[in-house]
This record gives sequence, structure tokens and C-alpha cells, in this order.
Amino acid sequence: MSDTTQAPPAPTTSTTPTAPKAKGTGTLAAGDGARHARIWGVGAYRPERVVPNTELVERIDSSDQWIRERSGIISRRMAAKDETVVDMSEHAARQALDVAGVTASQIGAIITATVTHPYQTPAAAPMLADRLGIQCAAFDISAACAGYCYAISLANDMVRGGSAEYVLVIGVEKLSDFTDYDDRGSAFIFGDGAGAAVVGPSDTPGIGPTIWGSDGAQWQAISQREPWTDIRDTDKKWPAIGMAGQTVFRWAVWGMAPVAQQAIDKAGITINDLDAFIPHQANMRIIDAMIKQLKLPADIPVARDIAETANTSAASVPLATERMIREKQIPSGGLALQIGFGAGLVYAAQVIVIP
Ligand code: UT7
Repeated sequence: MSDTTQAPPAPTTSTTPTAPKAKGTGTLAAGDGARHARIWGVGAYRPERVVPNTELVERIDSSDQWIRERSGIISRRMAAKDETVVDMSEHAARQALDVAGVTASQIGAIITATVTHPYQTPAAAPMLADRLGIQCAAFDISAACAGYCYAISLANDMVRGGSAEYVLVIGVEKLSDFTDYDDRGSAFIFGDGAGAAVVGPSDTPGIGPTIWGSDGAQWQAISQREPWTDIRDTDKKWPAIGMAGQTVFRWAVWGMAPVAQQAIDKAGITINDLDAFIPHQANMRIIDAMIKQLKLPADIPVARDIAETANTSAASVPLATERMIREKQIPSGGLALQIGFGAGLVYAAQVIVIP
């Protein structure tokens, strides 16, 4: 039997690169983070101007009654023309630091979750750091309505991994800059605001395992209508955020309760152990459908901030949390299930200890 295997051809030139040998066998020092992390304080900023449904309905041939019935929204806050994402973040951040009893100089990293900072670059977070008089690590993440829950997960890992002792998490949106007020499908749904949380070391677990994921095949269900590069040098309209409402509605109603249930299971608790349910404030009917699917006991308080705040994307969960704490609806030290979901499509859920 003849051997048909061919030897590889010999190198023909002497320029074939060879990787250099590593210098030694040194072992890196491991980061020494805290054993556990938790949220120590939350803060919120709601812009001054209240915009009731009646102010929007004429342009979209709608009614206050339709918007209330289909979404649960009664009014929303709208930022002033010259009020920026960084301005709103600063207000929320200062309140969260104050509540947490942490000084800005103790913050090792800032994560800003937003999809409405109007600069492609730089990020909002370094500007916020400068406002707070610090020069810590600072970056933005784009995970839309799941952004805050994504950032809480990152902050938890960063505190435990030792890359920061305290992390300032911001969820902020100025959606009024990216809303088409002539679009029937979205003009009434969005609002502006900022929420903040200070995440730091803890003796006991304060942030449960995060269940998160994405379904990028559905990216067009909520998106900026055109990329910046397509509107450059053309007379296309401002690329506001568009939404296939029903598609997102169905995905949220059927897909998100199982995600929330997994977060409960992974946290090692049962639904009866919860002291609060704080879902993304997308639509009151989605909230009600999730309560039903989860079989949430009727005595567990549920965030319904959407009525007066509308859908503020990354800001919605921290704004709703701050309201529930301020209105004394939920106990400090209790357990809250929080879940964010939206453009991407992306989602994240975790159980947290209420600050
Ligand atoms: O934050 C990110 C995640 N976002 C969400 O989760 C949003 C999910 N989607 C929703 O919340 C809902 O889809 C909306 C609130 C946006 C819309 O509610 P809907 O019940 O899904 O409305 P629809 O699009 O199915 O429209 C129902 C009817 C239609 O009329 P016909 O065909 O039944 O006669 C629409 O033409 O309502 C009509 N309609 C309106 N009527 C008055 C649609 N938009 C409006 C409007 N005002 N603005």
C-alpha cells in the first residue's frame, strides 16, 4: 500500500515570521474585588415640563382616551431644549451619591446607558465624570430599554472583579430629540428623564445573577429610521426612532415573563419572596400581562411609573425604583425583580436588594 499523504511544501523564503518566545513564566496578580456587591442608593431626575396626552393628540389623529387605554400613559416629562443627557445625568447622579453616602471621589467607574446622547463620540460618561470633578473610567453602553439592567450587571461584576470599588450607573434618555411627533405609532410613547444607582461592595449578595440576551434578527422592530451615513448629504428627514409596536408588544408579552422567571430561579428564591416587581415601563398592558404569566401574588407592589413618566427607555427602571422608594411602597433591604427589554432586541433581568 502506497502512502499518498503529501508533506507540506518547505518554506521558500527566509521571511516567514516566527512568533517570539514569551519571556518567562510569571503569573499575574489577580484583581481583588469585593465578595459581593449591591446597590447603595438610587437617584432620579424628572424634567420640569409635564406634557399631557392632549398636547400630542392633534398631530397624530389620536385621543387622550385611546392613549390611556392602549398604553396606560397619562403624561410624560419633556426636557428643555437646552437641557442635555449629561445635565439630567448629573442631577440623578448627585442624588444617588447623596443617598448612598458615597463621595464622587470614591467612584471608580461610570457607566451611562443611553441611546439619545447626541454625540456619536465622545461618550456622555466622561463628560459626567468631569461635571462631578473626577477622572475615573467612564463609558456609555447602548442597550436601549435594557441598558440600566445591563449596566447593573456590569457594575456588579466590576465591583466583584476588583476593577472599581464603587460604580456609578446611569440610565438616561432625552427621547424628545429622537421622536417624530407626527408618527402615530410612537409619538405618544416616549418621555425624558434620568435615573442613577451607586453599586458598591457588600457583605452579602445584593445583585442576583443576570439573565440577559438578544434577538438581533428583529433589530428593525425598534430602530433609528436611517443610519447617520444615509442622511448625510441628502435631504432625508431627521432619523427619529421608529417602532413596529405590535411586533415588540408580542415579543415582550410572550418572551419576557420566562426571562423574569429565570432571574428569580437563578437568584435561588421564589416569586413569593419578592417585595417588588419593577419591569421596564413600556406599556401598562405589557406589565399586566407579565404579572399574569408570572402569577405574581397580588400583594407584591408593581412599578406603574409609566402613567406619569411614559417610556423613558434606559431611565425607566431606575426612575420607577426611585419613585417606589420615595413613596414608601417598598422596604429597604427587600428583594425586587427588575427587567429591561427593548431595541436590539435585547433584554436583561435580575433580582436586587432594594437600597
Ligand atoms: O421600550 C421598548 C419596548 N417598546 C414597547 O414595548 C412598546 C410595545 N408596543 C406597544 O406598547 C403598543 O403596540 C402601542 C401602544 C405602541 C400600540 O398599541 P396597539 O394596541 O399595539 O395598537 P395597534 O398598532 O395594534 O393599533 C390598533 C388600532 C388600529 O386601528 P384599527 O386597525 O384597529 O382600526 C390603529 O390604526 O389603533 C389604531 N391606532 C391609533 N389610534 C389612535 C394606532 N395608533 C393610534 C394612535 N391613536 N396613536
